[in-house]
Amino acid sequence: MPLDLECQRCPLGRGRIQVVPPCGDVGSRVVLVGEAPGAQEDEMGVPFVGRAGKILDGLMKEAGLPRDRVMITNTVKCRPPKNRRPRPEEMRACRPYLEEELRGKDFILALGLSAAEDLLGRKMVMRDVANRPFEVELFGRKVVMMVTYHPSACIYRPPAKDTLREALRI
Ligand code: URA
Repeated sequence: MPLDLECQRCPLGRGRIQVVPPCGDVGSRVVLVGEAPGAQEDEMGVPFVGRAGKILDGLMKEAGLPRDRVMITNTVKCRPPKNRRPRPEEMRACRPYLEEELRGKDFILALGLSAAEDLLGRKMVMRDVANRPFEVELFGRKVVMMVTYHPSACIYRPPAKDTLREALRI
C-alpha cells in the first residue's frame, strides 16, 4: 500500500505533526529499519535526524556508508506520544506501508529489537542475534536480514556502538 501522508489507520495519526516517509535512496536494495520517528523527525518529516540520527550518521561515516546510498525507514511512520515504543496494533496498522517499502529489497538491517520483532513476529535477545545475517522469507520473498543495536542504545554503551558500526560496514 503506498504511504498515505494523511493516514489515520491508527491513533498515532491524531498526535503527529506529519507522516515521516523513508529517506535516502529509496531505490537501494539495502534498507535500514528503525522503530518510529521522534520529536525532530516529526518536525522535519525525515527519519533519523534527531539525537539517534546524529549517532547513526557518525557511525555510518566511520563505516564508510554514505547515508544517501541506502534507504532508511521506520516500522511506524508517525511519532508515538512521549516517544514510547509503538504498540503491536500500531505496527500492524503501518505494516502495509512497510511491506510496500521493502518490496524488492535484498538486505534489511533492523536497528533495534522493536524493528526486528515487528519484521519477524517473534521475540529475540539482542546478544544472541546481533550482527548475524540470516535468510528469511519476508512478504513472500527471500531476503537477507541482520539485527543490530538501535543508535539510541549506543549512547552510553561503547560495545553496542562498536557492534552497530560493524553492522554498517555493508
Ligand atoms: N529513532 C528511530 O527509531 N527512528 C527515527 O527515525 C528516529 C529515532
